[in-house]
Amino acid sequence: MKAVRVHAFDAPPVIEEVTQPVLRPGRTLVRMEAATVGHIDRTVWRGSFLKHPPFPYTPGVEAAGVVVASAVYASGQRVWLRGSGLGTLFDGTWCELIDAPDEALGLLPDGVPAAIGAAFFSPSTSAWVALHDVARLSAAESVLVTGATGAVGSLAVQLALDAGADVTALVADAAQAARMPSGAKVLVLGNEPGSSMDSISADLLVDTVGGGVLAAALARVKPGGRAVLVGYTAGNTLTLDIAHFLQRDVSLLPLNMFRREPAGRAAAPDLLARLADGRLKLDVQPFALESAAQAMDWISQRGHRGRAVLTMGR
Ligand SMILES: NC(=O)c1ccc[n+]([C@@H]2O[C@H](COP(=O)([O-])OP(=O)(O)OC[C@H]3O[C@@H](n4cnc5c(N)ncnc54)[C@H](OP(=O)(O)O)[C@@H]3O)[C@@H](O)[C@H]2O)c1
Repeated sequence: MKAVRVHAFDAPPVIEEVTQPVLRPGRTLVRMEAATVGHIDRTVWRGSFLKHPPFPYTPGVEAAGVVVASAVYASGQRVWLRGSGLGTLFDGTWCELIDAPDEALGLLPDGVPAAIGAAFFSPSTSAWVALHDVARLSAAESVLVTGATGAVGSLAVQLALDAGADVTALVADAAQAARMPSGAKVLVLGNEPGSSMDSISADLLVDTVGGGVLAAALARVKPGGRAVLVGYTAGNTLTLDIAHFLQRDVSLLPLNMFRREPAGRAAAPDLLARLADGRLKLDVQPFALESAAQAMDWISQRGHRGRAVLTMGR
């Protein structure tokens, strides 16, 4: 069977023939239909994550497929896969057939296409947990979302609107503004992040961008408000004037979805139901398994839309 293999940090992933896995205790054999290429896969590939599988390894922390053999799941059951060491401790999901830990699987409803089933977990559960578990959002609060065109940001906008919040979405340009849900106010980020946001005042900031955007957005949170820090593509440092910080009394709340994965798994069935009936939308961009390197490059470009998903020829 075919799998994408990485032989060294930063080395281009290559497609190879590998030995087919066999059923073992505690594992389920899954025929892959779609596997996500996400930022975490790039981080592992670059050697910047805490752990990586021994070389050569098959990347991929998320996927969707159909059960072939299992002591726990019925053959033919549609499933999504995520976590439990997939793609971080041992071989991951960028392959045609996988023996995954039973606990990595969840049931995929018929109404959710495989590509969405592969891609939904990280962005939708991150957005959900950020809003509801970390920030404890109340209806009628005002929420500012940075990186609102991103996978996590766009779902944070949709879920905050659905919770009854007054939502402002921060986007890079006017063309992207047109893609935001109709219920959201849209703010276009100019060359001066601070002055672009002068008109805003929010109870809650969900920041998926970091760097100078975070610094500017933080100043727009009301005294006593809170900010959930999700990502740092625009920079991984933040300078704080401690006196100012204490006076403004804005809580800085980190999101760590590896620690909060149980909350994400608990939210997954409801999020899948919303994706199935169209209450939530997530863009996916398909790539062939052979094009994993291009998919990794695509997700690192500014302006890409949605999740990259490797599809396994079905
Ligand atoms: N803490 C956690 O547990 C956790 C969980 C999930 C994700 N994350 C992190 O969250 C971040 C967002 O993930 P994602 O899947 O939503 O990524 P994504 O789909 O690639 O979206 C990235 C967003 O950030 C914007 N952006 C990128 N660089 C920017 C810059 N220099 N200035 C302003 N905006 C910028 C992009 O805008 P354009 O569209 O204009 O390029 C886009 O809206 C990633 O860093 C990811 O690793 C963290």
